[in-house]
Amino acid sequence: MKLEWEYQEGVLLPTDSAYPTRMQLVADCCAVAEAITVKCGVHVLLTDDAYIREINRVHRGIDRETDVLSFPTVHYPHGQTAHDAQRLLRKEYTPDVDACFLGDILISVPRAQAQAKAFGHSLSRELGYLLAHGIFHLFGYDHVTAQQQKEMRQMEEKALGIAGITREGSAPTSPTDEQLLALAREAMQRSYSPYSRFRVGACVLSADGRLFTGCNIENASYGLTNCAERTAIFKAVSEGATDFTAIAIAAENAAPWPCGACRQVLNEFSNDMRVLVTWGHDAVEKTTLAALLPHSFGPKDLP
Ligand code: THU
Repeated sequence: MKLEWEYQEGVLLPTDSAYPTRMQLVADCCAVAEAITVKCGVHVLLTDDAYIREINRVHRGIDRETDVLSFPTVHYPHGQTAHDAQRLLRKEYTPDVDACFLGDILISVPRAQAQAKAFGHSLSRELGYLLAHGIFHLFGYDHVTAQQQKEMRQMEEKALGIAGITREGSAPTSPTDEQLLALAREAMQRSYSPYSRFRVGACVLSADGRLFTGCNIENASYGLTNCAERTAIFKAVSEGATDFTAIAIAAENAAPWPCGACRQVLNEFSNDMRVLVTWGHDAVEKTTLAALLPHSFGPKDLP
């Protein structure tokens, strides 16, 4: 999922620096939970109470502040949500976003801040929750009836659960292989590969249960290209994760087996991590790093 960020002039930025990465992961997890394969884009405006109240009044006739508002571009046939209507989503393809544009989400930062404080959790977690709520509205969910509310809530919890955001007191569940592979495919959408046009995405699972995604990032000087696996691993290590249980890697037309450099970088951290590779429509192969890099040289070999 592609997020187009906008900040209302003068809005106080969230004080929790984890929010952009966390919100991107939540957005990807919403697409994975809804099992969407088309590349979707969403515009996110981080705003304040006065502006969200104004928009609420003008567009919904409700003269009140609120935490999140969403304005879908797709009108789903009765009883359908985004998963059932992917042909409709494709019609929303917008070249300048390079994605199928699903609509706008406005989030009041001060309101999110107050709610995070009231619930006693982090601001990035609250922003993640509000974003998921907005995205499921853009997917065609609503909460007019109790039944609709229940279904929407279930989907939000599914997406947030994959992202590692669970209800207070409930144990986090480990993402499935399918979910890891789907997150790698989502990360592939952000590939910067104008030279090879070989788009790759990766998703690494750390032993403490966190997920980090990455894409390949090319450069006009060619040699400075960073593979998707290393982008994901470097993001993870820079956030304090150094022990990994699995990496999923996705590409379009050919199997993206990690290159030699990436195998060595992965080996620095966990030689026994699982390596899951997907390409084409749904081809999948699973192995381990130990199998891909036998007789490895690593930290264990240095005094
Ligand atoms: N690439 C990866 O990101 N990961 C792999 O597993 C294989 C290759 C990238 C590097 C470059 O941007 C492009 O694919 C073509 O080599």
